[in-house]
Amino acid sequence: MARKKVKNPKKPHKDDRVRSKKVEMDPHRVPVGIPNFDRLIEGGFEKNSTNLLVGGSGSGKSIFATQFLIYGMERGENCLYITFEEKKEQFYHNLLEVGFDLRKYEKKGLFTFLEYSPIKVKTMLEEGGGSIESIILKNKVTRLAMDSITSFSLLFEDELSKREAALSLFGMTRGWHCTSLLTLEEDPVDFGGAFTSKAIEFEADSVIVLYFIRKAEKRERFIEVLKMRGTNHSKEVYPFEIKEGGIFIKTTPVSHFVCK
Ligand SMILES: Nc1ncnc2c1ncn2[C@@H]1O[C@H](COP(=O)(O)OP(=O)(O)OP(=O)(O)O)[C@@H](O)[C@H]1O
Ligand SMILES: [Mg+2]
Repeated sequence: MARKKVKNPKKPHKDDRVRSKKVEMDPHRVPVGIPNFDRLIEGGFEKNSTNLLVGGSGSGKSIFATQFLIYGMERGENCLYITFEEKKEQFYHNLLEVGFDLRKYEKKGLFTFLEYSPIKVKTMLEEGGGSIESIILKNKVTRLAMDSITSFSLLFEDELSKREAALSLFGMTRGWHCTSLLTLEEDPVDFGGAFTSKAIEFEADSVIVLYFIRKAEKRERFIEVLKMRGTNHSKEVYPFEIKEGGIFIKTTPVSHFVCK
């Protein structure tokens, strides 16, 4: 007699099966998931670290930040994207250009897109809590992107107050127990590698720089890890491409890199 198939309530959820694959990975590292990037930084960002991605206009900051979140969401992680500048519809549309369907993750409840104002962040730092914190705690967010913090940093005039604000913002993100990626719009070529806001750069656990440099007839893209605390990171500059699927970093570094 054919036995009636009983639905097994203990059957692991698809996402849990994916999660179990992570067992052999270093629990102190959070893989970024961008092809050929994690091997430059000992396997990923340090867990709960605050990382800064610096680059000029169109250098790939938003694509990099989204790719970092998508890697986590594909493994069942909850992610939050905070932006001060982009409108949701336009942003989702732009990201579809590289094949990232954010609506799909939103429908699954894994992705939250939050338009926020720099002044609200300032208030949050002064008063604590706020809607960012409630989303992070409620959804158990493990990956956070803030794209970009440029307008926030412009709220502070002198280097000392910028530094205090950075310290307070980064302290708060660390307290949320999620791994953060903050982008900063600044063209490294204009400043010859020295950023206008040393304060923010100094307080971050890591600084990654995206270059978009004109070489003869066309521009080329390069990436460099400027610093990463507690990590023996690569000191070389790598070319990368943006195409369907996002950012792809080449395996061979450039032999001579002139930032001009
Ligand atoms: N499908 C694609 N194929 C090739 N390149 C693409 C594709 N989609 C986007 N790009 C490139 O990526 C760039 C945008 O990347 P991104 O939005 O991440 O940059 P950004 O640094 O965030 O820019 P912004 O300063 O405007 O915020 C585009 O200007 C384009 O050069
Ligand atoms: Mg952007």
